[in-house]
Amino acid sequence: MVVLGAGPAGLVLGNLLHASGIDCVILERADRAHVQTRARAGFLAPNTVRVLERHGLAEGLRRRGREHGACEFRTDDGRFTLEYGSLGRGEPHTVYPQQELVTDLLTRYVDTGGRIRFGAEAVAVHGARTGRPSVTVREADGRTGRWQARYVAGCDGRRGAARASLPPGAVRRHHRDHGVSWLGLLVEAPPSLDAVGYAVHGRGFAGHMARTDRITRYYLQCERGRPAGSWSQDAIWAELELRMRAAAYGPLHRGRIVQRGVVDLDSDVLEPLRHGSLFLAGDAASVISPSAAKGANLAVLEAEILARALADDLAHGDGEGLDRYSARCLPHIWRAQDFSQWMIRLLHGPSGPEGETSFHNALRRSRIESLRTSRSQQDWFAENYVGV
Ligand code: APR
Repeated sequence: MVVLGAGPAGLVLGNLLHASGIDCVILERADRAHVQTRARAGFLAPNTVRVLERHGLAEGLRRRGREHGACEFRTDDGRFTLEYGSLGRGEPHTVYPQQELVTDLLTRYVDTGGRIRFGAEAVAVHGARTGRPSVTVREADGRTGRWQARYVAGCDGRRGAARASLPPGAVRRHHRDHGVSWLGLLVEAPPSLDAVGYAVHGRGFAGHMARTDRITRYYLQCERGRPAGSWSQDAIWAELELRMRAAAYGPLHRGRIVQRGVVDLDSDVLEPLRHGSLFLAGDAASVISPSAAKGANLAVLEAEILARALADDLAHGDGEGLDRYSARCLPHIWRAQDFSQWMIRLLHGPSGPEGETSFHNALRRSRIESLRTSRSQQDWFAENYVGV
């Protein structure tokens, strides 16, 4: 079994396969230090925690993760907090930086004898249709090699070799560009509020998400095409404080901006998540915009489903789970996409003719008011916000 990529999807899959006694190797393009320090998501859904606990992979997050169950909306009409952790199914998120989760998963995999090659970039997957797949790999020293396996799992993200190797027409790609861009910032400063902050403002969206006691993520909606480096530190803080309405609700804790980058919000889903003996999981299967923090959670969910199906097939010759893998994952993916799309439309103003934009903006206002006042709306929000 060859697994491409050592992100959350590939590492959960690798650990589960290895624990089931299946011979597998993970091929990862980056080096180990890079994989363990790449700061990305941080909000784990209750289901993700359950999956990791079920397989003994949750020790670190149990010790260092923090429960989080509130978000605050700030608009021209004022602000309110939704205690989503006690609404809906009554479940909070666990905040645990993704690089720490990845480090835990990697350490467990390597310490229990799992095989992984760093600096090994998959170039292409061949023969998936015929059932005799192989992967060509370029090693860090420039040499190329070939790995053969019964199955290949593409967990190498949206720009990996798995997607690139799909022949035209083999799978369908559903795609939407949301037409919105965010400047994502990682700041060396404690969180400024005890909640996820969503600020809806005429100048665009601003977001606040805790990572640790010392690190906070901020997002600023920005013009498409504007480079991340074109913002001065002062301009960033001025814009964050304006949109978060710091003058009214309290200043933001400023700190060194340690990472910045622009994300163009788009989403896609591949269907089916299989081409012969090549299976897709995580971002390789579906890209979801970060507005509702679902990407890593879907990746873990899919990895567990795929691991069980592969183990049934490889250890017991029962291929039914593999046949059903795509159909089992897609409803979860679409539900997450639906909610993420709803969030995007709630948080961002439209562009277009004046009549349409004012109509959409009035709808957004009405939706936020429903969220503030209607218990059933709040329960719906909570269930979808933490759910995968
Ligand atoms: N060959 C080998 N490895 C590759 C290749 C390649 N050609 N291309 C990419 N990779 C590696 C990357 O270096 C990375 O470590 O695949 C890994 C993919 O990891 P992620 O991008 O974290 O993807 P995934 O495991 O699907 O997790 C997805 O996690 O960060 C969140 O929200 C984010 O949705 C995302 C989710």
